Amino acid sequence: MKADPHHRRGNGGPKLNRARDLLVFGLTFFKEPAMLGSVIPSSRFLVRRALREVDWSQARVVVEYGPGVGTFTGELLKRMTPDAKLLAFETQDDFVRHLQDEIPDPRLEVVHDSAGAAARVLEERGAGPADYVLSGIPFSLMPPDERDAILQNTREMLAPNGTFLVYQFSPTIKKPLQKAFGRVDSEFESRNIPPARVYRCRP
Ligand SMILES: C[S@@+](CC[C@H](N)C(=O)[O-])C[C@H]1O[C@@H](n2cnc3c(N)ncnc32)[C@H](O)[C@@H]1O
Repeated sequence: MKADPHHRRGNGGPKLNRARDLLVFGLTFFKEPAMLGSVIPSSRFLVRRALREVDWSQARVVVEYGPGVGTFTGELLKRMTPDAKLLAFETQDDFVRHLQDEIPDPRLEVVHDSAGAAARVLEERGAGPADYVLSGIPFSLMPPDERDAILQNTREMLAPNGTFLVYQFSPTIKKPLQKAFGRVDSEFESRNIPPARVYRCRP
């Protein structure tokens, strides 16, 4: 059988992978609740809603902020073309290790650093601009200066036709997004714990 580089390493099939993800996520939530903002990973409904307008043929450089246990990461990789690249920025050690162990895909690079470092890292690697940036980090629990710096850097590292996709549980992010980006649309997804809103922001 041909090796599938996009497949997860975990033994025991999708149910066991999901159980492992829930356990790692839940344990990390109890250590760092404010960094996670939610006790369980995103639902498949939220994933589909957030990704449904992405033009995968144009998604050559994709950046993810806050991949956690890889709920979106795996779905991004399934849809990305073979020559696309995904840089995922995660601050929690346990998640970084989990992603590196469970998703052995050569297109994925897990960066153990804050989303605030993304613009610098892309520039250092000559990897930018980004066609899509996807963020699940809890902006509403962050100091406003840090949040605004991340939004500004994200706008600067996006390609002119790029999109910043943000999923959030709190609506307080709407105004800062509108301040940083030219166009912001949003959609609500109730089938997630907690229910969430997806914002699509363009420069
Ligand atoms: C709500 S969880 C989302 C996890 C996952 N993407 C999902 O949809 O299930 C937020 C994630 O953002 C990470 N995080 C929080 N602040 C961050 C930052 N400044 N830079 C990168 N990751 C961050 C947390 O460790 C956590 O993995």
